This record gives sequence, C-alpha cells and structure tokens, in this order.
Amino acid sequence: MSVTAVSPGSFDPVTYGHLDVLERAASRFDRLIVGVLRNESKHPLFAIEERIELLRAATAHMPNVEIEGFSGLLVDFCHARGVRVIVKGLRAVSDFEYELQMAQMNSRLGDVETLFLTTSPVYSFLSSSLVKEVARYGGDVSDFVPPVVAERLRQRLGDQAAG
Ligand code: PNS
Repeated sequence: MSVTAVSPGSFDPVTYGHLDVLERAASRFDRLIVGVLRNESKHPLFAIEERIELLRAATAHMPNVEIEGFSGLLVDFCHARGVRVIVKGLRAVSDFEYELQMAQMNSRLGDVETLFLTTSPVYSFLSSSLVKEVARYGGDVSDFVPPVVAERLRQRLGDQAAG
C-alpha cells in the first residue's frame, strides 16, 4: 500500500529547517504533498505563486515531493487527496502547545493524524520570520536558506536594507 502524507505551512519563505523536515518525511513516505497556505490575512512577504516556485526549486532533488497551494481547512485539502497523515516539524517545546491544539483539532475535524518530526538541532533556532528580519537589515542568510531564496530575499528586501 502506497502512503501519501501532507506537510503544510506558510513557507514565507522556505528555509533549510523546513527542507530538513521535508527531506526526512519524503524518505519515509511514498509521496509527500507540501501544502502551501494562501492566507493573505497574514500579509506574507512572498505571494503564494512565489512561495510555491521557491519550494519547487528547493525540492527539485526530491522526486516524490509535490508542491500545491491551498486555502480553507487543511483537513479538506487532505481529504480531497485521500491523505490521512499530516507531517509537521517541531523545533522546541514552545511550538508544542499550539501544534498539539492543531493536531487534535485536525484529528477531530477529519480523522487525519499528525506525526511530528523533531527539527535537527542545527536548525532549531530557524524561522522564516527571523530570516526575513536578518535579510531586511542586510545580514547574511546564506546559512539559513537555499541560494535561490537568498537571492529572492535580496531582491525583495535589498532596497529596504539600503534605506
Ligand atoms: O507555517 P505555519 O504558518 O505555522 O503553518 C500553519 C498551518 C498552515 C499549518 C495552519 O495555519 C493551517 O493548517 N491552516 C489551515 C486552516 C485550518 O485548517 N485551520 C484549522 C487547523 S486546526
């Protein structure tokens, strides 16, 4: 039996922390669908099309990974694809409380189970928000995001950093 999992997130933008979790999930499931939340109310730096494009570039070496955008409920996205497993990364205890609530809600709403992978310690401090802040002030983000993302951050935030 072939098992597909969904790994959801905002990915604004994708970091090496995300990629660590996606790579480890992709090696344990037959197929991994990365669900990119549209959520304009969060005012993402990158439009959904751009977040998807950057994720596709960063996961091009993973043949069983697909990238799709979604809006609405995650469980509906999973059901529409016949998926009953969500995979998420946990960086620290501080992530756990909210992640637990979401996992329990998704289980209750749609009988979709959430499996957590602990982030590799080298990436446990990483977040998209911090990466954007470092890039905004002209800091070097090359240890934190793939080159294609670093370049896009430079293009998008370079003017602000200079100003
Ligand atoms: O990367 P993020 O922003 O922490 O990801 C959050 C995400 C996308 C996993 C979460 O916001 C989500 O699942 N949103 C979809 C709406 C939904 O299903 N809400 C109820 C979940 S309990």
